[in-house]
Amino acid sequence: CHVSMSLPSASQSRLKYVSLGVLVLQTTSLVLTMRYSRTLLGEGPRYLASSAVVSAELLKILTCLLLVFYDHSFSVRALNRVLNEEILNKPMETLKLAIPSGIYTLQNNLLYVALSNLDAATYQVTYQLKILTTALFSVSMLGKRLGLYQWLSLLILMTGIALVQWPTESLGGPSSKPLSAGSQLVGVIAVLIACFSSGFAGVYFEKILKETKQSVWVRNIQLGLFGLVFGLIGVFVYDGERVRESGVFQGYNSLTWTVVALQALGGLVIAAVIKYADNILKGFATSLSIILSTLISYFWLKDFDPTSVFFLGAMLVIAATFLYGYEGKRPAINHSKV
Ligand code: C5P
Repeated sequence: CHVSMSLPSASQSRLKYVSLGVLVLQTTSLVLTMRYSRTLLGEGPRYLASSAVVSAELLKILTCLLLVFYDHSFSVRALNRVLNEEILNKPMETLKLAIPSGIYTLQNNLLYVALSNLDAATYQVTYQLKILTTALFSVSMLGKRLGLYQWLSLLILMTGIALVQWPTESLGGPSSKPLSAGSQLVGVIAVLIACFSSGFAGVYFEKILKETKQSVWVRNIQLGLFGLVFGLIGVFVYDGERVRESGVFQGYNSLTWTVVALQALGGLVIAAVIKYADNILKGFATSLSIILSTLISYFWLKDFDPTSVFFLGAMLVIAATFLYGYEGKRPAINHSKV
């Protein structure tokens, strides 16, 4: 068995499916809230995206602190000891997290470049390539072994997502202005680099989590601290002028806080998914949530008209999910005998 380090117990396997399920719900609500917040533009200044990133990071760190506190039966002394021993007194361990954190910061900026140079459909479809780069990094860095069916299911997954997303966005009204070939190229290159950074940072975080003993919440605090530093630099570099004029929290409303909370929750759930499942399954959860949010947008918001290509794509994604699990189930059969 290639998962030699931690024998999956019944409760771990439950945590795996619970965390994947919560990730599907979290991603879906984040997409819908962001879309809703865009159609509901109030008067006054819009909130600064860079400031929302910092707020989400702060909220994530505070929640992780609370979780560590809970893990130590709400003893202030134990919390203090953990923070000192695990974070302050282990600068090299803490510094390891600067790598994924820096890469995620770079990635968020690349995706911004990509979205400014590509239409949303091309952007989203191309970004699905991260499913494959994630698999490649999982194989090369973690020594994960994928069977033929699993590689096949990843290809089917990518095809399915491409079909699901292409027609959706092209129906979404006339595009504002045609994009030049040069800017298209810049956009595509930005997405391609983001695909590699997403795969690498995710698998690097997984490697740290699975090869060392520190708790996932302590690791997330370390990641968040660097995220906070990079995020604050972002606020001052991009929006320094505007912050001086109208403050860091300008334009925040309850919807902004909802997006911030969902984003913070996302960081927590992704960390849990990487610990209890893995980065490849995270890709499947995200794909399922794309279908879920599209269906909600059809039945509820009524702003989407699904085509038969959408349904074909959705079927492929669901089929790929089962196909991937098909081989993965084999070790579980031995397990259920216990
Ligand atoms: O597109 P991708 O799946 O790579 O995006 C992952 C996102 O999750 C990044 O924005 C990253 O900042 C965030 N993340 C997090 N906490 C983790 C791992 C990832 O907030 N432990």
